[in-house]
Amino acid sequence: MNDFAQTIENTSSRGERVAAKAALRRTFAIISHPDAGKTTLTEKLLLFGGAIQLAGTVKARKASRHATSDWMEIEKQRGISVASSVMQFPFREHVVNLLDTPGHQDFSEDTYRVLTAVDSALMVIDAAKGVETQTVKLLDVCRLRDTPIITFMNKMDREARDPMELLDEVESVLKIQCAPVTWPIGMGKRFRGVYHLLRDSILLFQPGQESRNQAMEVIEGLDNPQMDERFGDQARELRDEVELVRGASHPFKLEAFLAGRQTPVFFGSAINNFGVREILDALVDWAPGPQPRQTTTRAVKPDEEKFTGFVFKIQANMDPQHRDRIAFLRVCSGRFERGMRIRHLRMNRDIQISNAITFMAQEREQVEEAYAGDIIGLHNHGNIQIGDSFSLGEALQFTGVPYFAPELFRRVRIKNPIKVKQLHKGLQQLAEEGATQVFKPLNGGDLVLGAVGVLQFEVVAHRLKAEYGVDAVFEPVNTHTARWISCSDARVLADFEKKLADQLAHDGAGNLAYLASSRVNLELTQERWPQVTFHATREHA
Ligand code: G4P
Repeated sequence: MNDFAQTIENTSSRGERVAAKAALRRTFAIISHPDAGKTTLTEKLLLFGGAIQLAGTVKARKASRHATSDWMEIEKQRGISVASSVMQFPFREHVVNLLDTPGHQDFSEDTYRVLTAVDSALMVIDAAKGVETQTVKLLDVCRLRDTPIITFMNKMDREARDPMELLDEVESVLKIQCAPVTWPIGMGKRFRGVYHLLRDSILLFQPGQESRNQAMEVIEGLDNPQMDERFGDQARELRDEVELVRGASHPFKLEAFLAGRQTPVFFGSAINNFGVREILDALVDWAPGPQPRQTTTRAVKPDEEKFTGFVFKIQANMDPQHRDRIAFLRVCSGRFERGMRIRHLRMNRDIQISNAITFMAQEREQVEEAYAGDIIGLHNHGNIQIGDSFSLGEALQFTGVPYFAPELFRRVRIKNPIKVKQLHKGLQQLAEEGATQVFKPLNGGDLVLGAVGVLQFEVVAHRLKAEYGVDAVFEPVNTHTARWISCSDARVLADFEKKLADQLAHDGAGNLAYLASSRVNLELTQERWPQVTFHATREHA
């Protein structure tokens, strides 16, 4: 135990200890367009944190999945995320929780829910390509919650776009102010390093730094004659450019960053492990610790003594050896400890958690203790759903973990009717994971699947076959969109159900939903039934 940790242990009250431990957590996700370098950067971050020893570990895993899988696109998306959706590592006396997000837009629902469990995000941009479509969408999601964003302009070791132009693009397309913190010196073959605008020092680029402890060569001060000795004309160019940048860009303001209005920008090269430490420093120094989380009754603060948390993701087959499903729970307050009894609030039942898992060093370990911001994995035997809340007894329902009304629908048929039980079981479990949504029409036997992206159907078909031995056929269905139904007047609701039974269904959690054949049909029905509310999202069962 180091001195700092010892000081915390010695802190007088339990409440203070909980607050001190929580304040050391940083929980964030990397958002990027595919190929910008998320996997590479993740690996380097883990190297810095000592969570892995060798560069190539994460990449190799991703690559081998590519090679062995017919299911390239899907596996590519699952890539490291299947094995390690959550990675925890220590950095400068802090505990960093890195949450993986699927890059493909068809899994945006999953991404959205992961982003509800973080306190900040790291946006990776390929400096040769600039802002790409998926980045725009992900940033929109972050903006809904004003999540603070750190930006990393990657691949400066290649010919990239003009840095000033990149900042302009981020500002105009993503509508977020940029505050450059490091500034690149050249690019591609002439990439020399970066100038740190706040520290007035130059970090020299050396390709291929793989070890985390390798000291980086630094020149202090922009006016340092060493600069001219080393770089000749490029030194002068840099001085001019820095003057320009200082004049033309926004200075970093912590308050604006925390409010999600401004993003500090770093330049570097993930593959060369260059600029990565600066990001981690920014994360620890500037990014917020665990933030309060809203419930239907009150906001829960991270330093409250009593444990609370919510489930934002469920994942199957994390370990192909054991067919298990893990529910990812974000701790929102208090201290979780091994063997604790916690209340599953939807089921109103206490459960003892003796084998929660943590995701340190890519190995699964038993959780001994966890604090706000940490993610723990609960073994799920079908009782836990996305959005479920847990506490030590207080009736709380965390909000903001939504299901979206699907935009794509398919009727499911099976080739072999004997397998109908397996089909139902498989679909129910896949629905609980959020892989798809299942609707059971009030009239008629065939189930209808709903998804936000078409790849989701492919995943479902693939997994039904691989995991449940069911050959399913998906057919087009005359449904354009769905809306969840609520109505405070029981009589009106009963009438509605009776009259529109052909267009109504129950979802996997038993909620009533209206399946509209077209937008016009939906609008007309809404007009005809003013007392009924049609919801485009639902939060919990
Ligand atoms: P992703 O997870 O965001 O999809 O991106 P990933 O890290 O897989 O990186 C995509 C490609 O970009 C990889 O090349 C990777 O090596 C490369 N890359 C990442 N960071 C840098 C960088 O700083 N500089 C340069 N020059 N390239 C970088 P690939 O050819 O697709 O894969 P591989 O054969 O290198 O594994």
